[in-house]
Amino acid sequence: MRGQECVSAVVKALEIGYRHLDTADSYENHREVAQGIKQSGIKREELFITTKVRRDDLHTQNLLDAAHRFLEELHTDYVDLLLIHWPNKAIPVGESLEAMEQLRSEKIIRTIGVSNFTIRHIEEVLKTGIEVASNQVEFHPSLNQKELKNFCDQNKIVITAYSPLARGYDLELPVIKDLSQKYGKTPSQVILNWLVNKGLVAIPKSSNPQRLLENFQSLDWQIDPQDMELIDNINENHRAVTPVFAEFDY
Ligand SMILES: NC(=O)c1ccc[n+]([C@@H]2O[C@H](COP(=O)([O-])OP(=O)(O)OC[C@H]3O[C@@H](n4cnc5c(N)ncnc54)[C@H](OP(=O)(O)O)[C@@H]3O)[C@@H](O)[C@H]2O)c1
Repeated sequence: MRGQECVSAVVKALEIGYRHLDTADSYENHREVAQGIKQSGIKREELFITTKVRRDDLHTQNLLDAAHRFLEELHTDYVDLLLIHWPNKAIPVGESLEAMEQLRSEKIIRTIGVSNFTIRHIEEVLKTGIEVASNQVEFHPSLNQKELKNFCDQNKIVITAYSPLARGYDLELPVIKDLSQKYGKTPSQVILNWLVNKGLVAIPKSSNPQRLLENFQSLDWQIDPQDMELIDNINENHRAVTPVFAEFDY
């Protein structure tokens, strides 16, 4: 989202009660996010702001410069979670993580994270001994990354599920539609409930006020364990996000 669409969505989301905002340098909307926050009147300390460094900015000085620019664009003194947006084999991950550790010690960021990392990428992260709070990856019923989830659980890394609705694809899955009927909840609410029940963080995108509210109201009920299992078994290895530079096969 960019421009006024982004500002309005941030204002509406914060009014509804959302407090976690997920942005990225490559979305080119830091200033709009900041404007939405300002208009909402919500205090900075009540918010959790995540942003991401581009995969071309992972050398030390580029990363440090980018992070300082983010503070200015986001009108803030700190970022709650800074992610490496995409892994880049050409730049040693230890170099980027050390720069992020420096930002953390200077209180420019609160926590360090990664995104689109496979098990092998995370093994390299673990070798550095630098603590990584979250791996943000595509995760939804038709892309249920069980092995990656187990590996992250074992290493106390929270998975943040991006494209949690598979950009709409998973809303049409027969199992999801059946459960939506059974519980009197919308397909989106069934999926978001399943994700959070599994211990993931979910970051659905909507610029529509009604759907923002619908997604926010997905957690005040409980799916039965046997229905959790039905969704667990859907997996189709369906990816919605596949840029050419992705290292999913690494
Ligand atoms: N780390 C990464 O590499 C990465 C990659 C992709 C995305 N992300 C993050 O993940 C966020 C969400 O991912 P996404 O936008 O790719 O996919 P998504 O959240 O799965 O799907 C968004 C789409 O679903 C629609 N939608 C939202 N709620 C709905 C509902 N209740 N019922 C029906 N349709 C609904 C939205 O339309 P309307 O807006 O019209 O409601 C939009 O077209 C992004 O905003 C971004 O912050 C991160």
